Amino acid sequence: MCGIIACIGSDDAVGELLTGLENLEYRGYDSAGIAVQNGSGIAVRKKAGKISELKDTIARDVSNGTIGIGHTRWSTHGPPTDKNAHPHTSRTERVAVVHNGIIENYEAIRRKLIAEGYEFRSETDTEVIPHLVEYYIDQGMGVEEAFKTTVGELDGSYAVALMVHGTDTVYAARQDSPLVVGVDDGRYYLASDVPAFLDFTDEVVYIENGEFARVRPNELVITDRDGNVVDRDVETVEWSAEETGKGQYAHYMLKEINEQADALANTIAGRIGEDGTVELEAFPPGTFGGIDEVEFVACGTSYHAALYGAQLLRRAGIRTYASLASEYDTSTVSDGTLVVAVTQSGETADTLTALRAAQDAGAETVAVTNVVGSSAAREADHALYIRAGPEIGVAATKTFSSQVVTLALLGHQLAEDLEQGRPREDAAEFFEELRKLPDHIATVLETTRAKEISEEYFDKKSYFFIGRDNEFPVALEGALKFKEITYEHAEGFASGELKHGPLALVTEETAVFALFTGQNGRETRKNAEEAHTRSADIVAVATDGTDVGEFADNVLWVPKTHPDLAGLLANVQLQLVSYYTADLLGREIDKPRNLAKSVTVE
Ligand code: G6P
Repeated sequence: MCGIIACIGSDDAVGELLTGLENLEYRGYDSAGIAVQNGSGIAVRKKAGKISELKDTIARDVSNGTIGIGHTRWSTHGPPTDKNAHPHTSRTERVAVVHNGIIENYEAIRRKLIAEGYEFRSETDTEVIPHLVEYYIDQGMGVEEAFKTTVGELDGSYAVALMVHGTDTVYAARQDSPLVVGVDDGRYYLASDVPAFLDFTDEVVYIENGEFARVRPNELVITDRDGNVVDRDVETVEWSAEETGKGQYAHYMLKEINEQADALANTIAGRIGEDGTVELEAFPPGTFGGIDEVEFVACGTSYHAALYGAQLLRRAGIRTYASLASEYDTSTVSDGTLVVAVTQSGETADTLTALRAAQDAGAETVAVTNVVGSSAAREADHALYIRAGPEIGVAATKTFSSQVVTLALLGHQLAEDLEQGRPREDAAEFFEELRKLPDHIATVLETTRAKEISEEYFDKKSYFFIGRDNEFPVALEGALKFKEITYEHAEGFASGELKHGPLALVTEETAVFALFTGQNGRETRKNAEEAHTRSADIVAVATDGTDVGEFADNVLWVPKTHPDLAGLLANVQLQLVSYYTADLLGREIDKPRNLAKSVTVE
């Protein structure tokens, strides 16, 4: 789990690499480094800690060049130290490498190289790559052949970029880790993700699994495993550099919470036909006519979106389950099973493993993802994009809303396909409310009292989130957000379960956020009262006009909408409570400790 960047033909390789790394920091931030070719050789600077620390070191002493590679790391093999930071070099320092992914057979390669007299300076799996390339160069191979031979020996996942002293070329390869080329009038960038180079260009070429790239000024050559040259179109991405910056907000998370109205408008745009049917660009009518069961696989926030989506599909009469990707088993897959991987990044290793298992078991697959060209999008039979725009804050916010709405649309299409194209009976009413959802979200953002609530409760010992039906996944998501960024104890429960155990934990130091946005407020009210009589403070998150009685110490209101959508409005309030509480506690909101935005290891 890391970010890689390379620039080729640059006037200011050091500056561009550092900018690229800052834009990639969301992929990992425990150490960083760059290598640039300058007159005297390859200069490597790397350091444990944030990129700002690396920047301070570099400002003092590195001479610039026109070609370089860089890396920001989230440790998998070896702790975050200066030595384990990338780039890694060969013993003569002729070869420098950055790598994202895991080399599963690195120990066997390491033993072989040690037997040949090589010494290792780090505990990483990556270090075998520069040594092995140099080994093959010493055996008489050219650089490209040595690189390809080395890559051919690697098992595992990798996006790797390599530079050799004395050449103006960067060599790269991709297997199961993302890699994209930015194209700028004879200059090139290579990176794990597009935002890395959006400050410089929005023209991109995606590298596929099993492919190699040879890049030097004015020349990009992509080849497949067998050495055939691949002709790939240059695409223009629609995200702008400005969109990936924080703008006027103190944190990306707050910016992304506030972007939800726009993000949802994008999610819906052009997808609801005038006749009340769904028009999902990826799926012509009838696509799912043979489906009789849907299985969602996902992790973290995406799993909560999947739970929410599964409930919507079940209510439409479609047999649907949601599984944590790491717990997924394929025993129920049959001819009529559709497996939907829900993943913001499209790169989560657990989700990709589940997706591949589903494919092996013969299921038809869909990736519901935010990242065009991500691994999930490429590997699934179909990709359905949530169109939320880039999300940089580690804690997912706007993408949850866009995921749920995308799954709701998918549910409507499934229902239509199973009913020979007839829209669901409740479709018109649902779509009418769906169109209003961005406005309702804007209302929540304008009128919220989340900051005051946070100020009142930020010193509690425990935070519970309870709800029923689609409020339950929102309660789980509310608690996940809260623990991710405040580091305080938070749990989500189905309201009805509170009395079956968790009530034992309730004291006057507990705050309970109880959701009253669905159709079962009466039951939740009883459960909230049970906690209230045991001294907990109750914050109701309720639809305008709901009677939340005297037991609620405070209320966060949301506008009235379709009950299938109301949970999303409640979720925005809970996101804001987490945000303001974390801010009051002085937490690192955009980069919470121990977490990463995209986890590409199992
Ligand atoms: C990580 C992130 C979570 C995210 C999960 C799944 O754990 O910290 O915020 O929900 O991965 O990510 P995905 O990209 O598959 O949605």
